[in-house]
Amino acid sequence: MAIAVYPGSFDPVTYGHLDIIQRSGKLFDKVIVGVLHNYAKSPLFSVEERVNILEKVTQGMPNIEIRPFSGLSVEFVHECGANVIVRGLRAITDFEYELQMAQTNRVLAPDVDTVFLTTSLEYAYLSSTTVKEVASFDGDISKFLPPFVAEEVKKRLQGGHKSGK
Ligand code: PNS
Repeated sequence: MAIAVYPGSFDPVTYGHLDIIQRSGKLFDKVIVGVLHNYAKSPLFSVEERVNILEKVTQGMPNIEIRPFSGLSVEFVHECGANVIVRGLRAITDFEYELQMAQTNRVLAPDVDTVFLTTSLEYAYLSSTTVKEVASFDGDISKFLPPFVAEEVKKRLQGGHKSGK
């Protein structure tokens, strides 16, 4: 069985991420979306909240599983019994960082390969960071992420607090 891992922060998940999840689900028998418990950053949603949100928006996608992880992506990939990392590439600006990450991961774990999917054109500009910025100024984020997620972002920003996890 060909298992791939799609690691990321998903804070919050956008239509761009969902595009990569859906398309990788067609390429692999199973895709495990790894949600990073990122201690260094101060995310809008805790890792548990991000996992719950992702589970809701991927309901009905039979070969997609959502799991939290901390530490190195390649170690998580091994724990999952996988040897492929999926990442989305939006533009040339992503390339340098993604190449560096893929090459580092390959030195750490030569059995793990990174497969890049180019983001669909309609989502090529989209990032979780810009979504949060637009939302923080009360802008319309409905074109960027599913209605349920947009509501969660608005509620969290209205609450005026971050998860801190
Ligand atoms: O959604 P993001 O924030 O672009 O995802 C980045 C992620 C989670 C893939 C990356 O930060 C990562 O793999 N972090 C885990 C730590 C790690 O393995 N670092 C080595 C790769 S340079």
